[in-house]
Amino acid sequence: MARSDEGSGKIGKNQGGDAVLNGERRNGQGRNGKFQSSLETGRGVPVSGAGSSGERQLSIYLDHSATTPICAEAIAAINDVFQSQWGNPSSTHRWGERSALALEMARIQVGALIGADPTEIFFTSGGTEADNWALLGVARQHQQPQHLVISSVEHSAIAKTADFLETQGWTVTRLPVDHVGRVSPQDLSAALRPNTALVSIIHGQSEVGTVQPIEALGKIAHAAGVLFHVDAVQTAGRMPIDLRTLPVDLLSLSSHKIYGPQGAGALYVRSGVAISSLLLGGGQESRLRAGTQAVATIAGFGAAAERIAQEMTIETKRLTGLRDRLFVGLATSGALQPTGDPVHRLPHHASFCLALDGWKTLNTPPSGWDLVRQLNSASIAVSSGSACNSGTLSPSPVLLSMGYRETEAIGALRFSLGRSTQMVDIDWTVKVVNQVLKRLGCETAPALVHPARLVNL
Ligand SMILES: Cc1ncc(COP(=O)(O)O)c(C=O)c1O
Repeated sequence: MARSDEGSGKIGKNQGGDAVLNGERRNGQGRNGKFQSSLETGRGVPVSGAGSSGERQLSIYLDHSATTPICAEAIAAINDVFQSQWGNPSSTHRWGERSALALEMARIQVGALIGADPTEIFFTSGGTEADNWALLGVARQHQQPQHLVISSVEHSAIAKTADFLETQGWTVTRLPVDHVGRVSPQDLSAALRPNTALVSIIHGQSEVGTVQPIEALGKIAHAAGVLFHVDAVQTAGRMPIDLRTLPVDLLSLSSHKIYGPQGAGALYVRSGVAISSLLLGGGQESRLRAGTQAVATIAGFGAAAERIAQEMTIETKRLTGLRDRLFVGLATSGALQPTGDPVHRLPHHASFCLALDGWKTLNTPPSGWDLVRQLNSASIAVSSGSACNSGTLSPSPVLLSMGYRETEAIGALRFSLGRSTQMVDIDWTVKVVNQVLKRLGCETAPALVHPARLVNL
């Protein structure tokens, strides 16, 4: 998995021995020298003394779909809980009450992000638990195995839970997707059966960025009297979600995708929808999720949700512009082809796979993993496929189900932008990627621009 090397001292020491790139960046002196050495930024972290003359160098984090740097508001909320709201929220004394207050505040903040009533928010350990719970919690409401519909481009938290349900006698339909990764509402209509208990569809696909037509899909499920679950881990805080109007019964969220801490998430359960608890124990979360809540982490989640809701409109527009600039910049190489839906897509997400025309003279074109490693050496953090699958050389199953050939799908590459991303990061990334592509043997990547022309990026 790609990682950001801030502060490691390795930044800029390109393993390919590419002193030019590093030299260019050093010359840039980090955009007027205004680097922030902050946990929150995820970029612009200077490493003084890393070069021979102590020049500053820069790392660029473009893996926000894997995780986001925690925001200051979340850290402050976490600190508050650790310092003064650390009681057990189930205790009836004042220490417990204070802690319960932090929990309820977070419930309001998270609910507000998606247009839900706070009573409909149930905290979990993250998106994976919320996804598992949605499927298994509905399944446990049934005495006999029923029918489940998912898409063929789900996150493994859904796909593997569906596989498990199959072993328990459930039948599972995996809806196909088109070449840009969209599910067709007609296919959903055709898939529904009298015993369909649940439809679960990913909202924003983490690898290819495609956003599904959840409103149309939810209407079809509801018209048939079927519950509808949405995995909104990648979309919450990135695009408006209003559960007052959307036909959705269950919806999964994750804190660390929205600048909150890792280890918190939530399942939205529409009022009146019956779902079973998975954990045995205490009566927390209205008896639906046993175990003392991780109050500090949840408070951080709430604070992050509040901030991202406030800035969503402006930030979405800004990131869409930067994302499109990246698409245009990398399309010129002829070595990569954009993947996913160009219109219905996550605003911060640009994804590619190999365009085989650019690699005609090579017997074995590079894998996405090769590209990730090379970019990491140049201090740019991206990922190949979803972070959970990185590190394996097998072609992305998501791309295969979208109709890509294995040789194309093995070269999956994902750039996911965030709060800290600036135009200069995008322009620099385009130049570095093109240079990496050329070094890996791509015939069509543009020639390297002379360093002197990059100084004022
Ligand atoms: C679409 C989607 N669903 C679920 C998850 C799992 O979330 P978490 O990391 O909080 O368990 C992820 C994580 O990448 C995701 O992208």
